[in-house]
Amino acid sequence: MKRLLILGSTGSIGQQTLDVVRRLPERFQVVGLAAHNNLALLLEQADAFGATMLGLLREDAPELVVTPQGKRLPVYRGVKGLCEMVCKPEVDLVVVALAGMIALLPTLTALEHGKTVALSTKEVLVGGGAIVMETARRTGTPLIPIDSEHSGAWQAMRGAEPHQIARLILTASGGPFLKRPLETFDQITVQEALQHPNWNMGAKITVDSATMMNKGLEVIEAQWLFDLPLEKIEVLIHPQSIVHALVEFVDGSVIAQLSVPDMRLPIQYALLYPERVDTELPRLDLRKVSQLTFEAPEMERFPCLRLAYEAARIGGTMPTVLNAANEVAVHLFLKEQIPFTAIASFVEQTMQAHTPQQPTLETILEADQWARAYVLTLAERRVAAPGGLA
Ligand SMILES: NC(=O)c1ccc[n+]([C@@H]2O[C@H](COP(=O)([O-])OP(=O)(O)OC[C@H]3O[C@@H](n4cnc5c(N)ncnc54)[C@H](OP(=O)(O)O)[C@@H]3O)[C@@H](O)[C@H]2O)c1
Repeated sequence: MKRLLILGSTGSIGQQTLDVVRRLPERFQVVGLAAHNNLALLLEQADAFGATMLGLLREDAPELVVTPQGKRLPVYRGVKGLCEMVCKPEVDLVVVALAGMIALLPTLTALEHGKTVALSTKEVLVGGGAIVMETARRTGTPLIPIDSEHSGAWQAMRGAEPHQIARLILTASGGPFLKRPLETFDQITVQEALQHPNWNMGAKITVDSATMMNKGLEVIEAQWLFDLPLEKIEVLIHPQSIVHALVEFVDGSVIAQLSVPDMRLPIQYALLYPERVDTELPRLDLRKVSQLTFEAPEMERFPCLRLAYEAARIGGTMPTVLNAANEVAVHLFLKEQIPFTAIASFVEQTMQAHTPQQPTLETILEADQWARAYVLTLAERRVAAPGGLA
């Protein structure tokens, strides 16, 4: 029986993780749950799964809560509270599924304390990959990917030596704007950006999929997870989202991982790794998939993908800055304070203003904070400029 702590249990990945747990009650016990704001759902989940520890990132959250079934539970508050939760002796495995770099310190703390991490929050590896991987290596703590492409690559690479891998191809659906005329990108609305063709996900990652920053973040995530040079990681548009990753070996053989687009499969694989069991998740029927197509992404259409490759090439704290600038820009877009096209433009301007440092915990946290503040000044300047918001 593995005892789980789920950081981000109220989100898309968190709720799907709980569905996997529901299917395997003899394998998992949920001991803790944490979210950002959504106390009502957190309390419902605590009753349904018997969790005894709750966490909320909101610093002003109550210290003690009562669930609908009348259980009185302590609340661990803020990042510090979540770091306390991950160290508890009753936790074996931490699912990290919070939205964004805010998950860095709880992830590092979990690894330091030898708690296996099933990682969904790619921003943690993009912003803090050097220290996260160093901590996992030094402590010998397993770090298992949940992201579908990385889970696919992880599965395809099993048993392979790093020098046998010639290339890793990550696939991307291309999002809702794959065919939209470029001259109309300035008019993209929040509602349009939130319509992903194949996946039902949280708002931030859905916008990242529309800009293809998501794939750029995944390239950097793959660099760290698989210790691959950037030149060996490619992206192909595959609108059907059936093939998640392809690993080409030095002899030319290619192993791909395929499944229906359903995150419960990679989540289950990460929780049970290296075991596999049948939990009656939907199956792939290739007779019903009329075609599998692949094409190279157009870089003019997806400037965020180009920026992510550039940040990865520069290295140091530049990927931290790329990620932080993107998090804030996406947030501003979701609040309808900047247009869709300003996301890439703000990220690029922030990268241009940054002098990269060697990545240590201190320089990473500094660069992250600096980039967030810089994007806000760009947004203020935009509002103040003649013509205002446009
Ligand atoms: N969804 C997918 O299919 C998918 C696939 C691959 C990778 N991922 C990655 O997994 C992570 C989670 O994605 P998701 O789609 O599950 O996100 P989500 O639905 O937005 O939920 C994420 C969780 O984080 C919390 N949260 C939301 N905004 C936050 C903020 N500003 N600061 C801190 N916490 C916040 C939410 O708490 P409240 O509910 O209390 O707000 C929720 O518990 C992301 O890094 C994403 O890139 C997701």
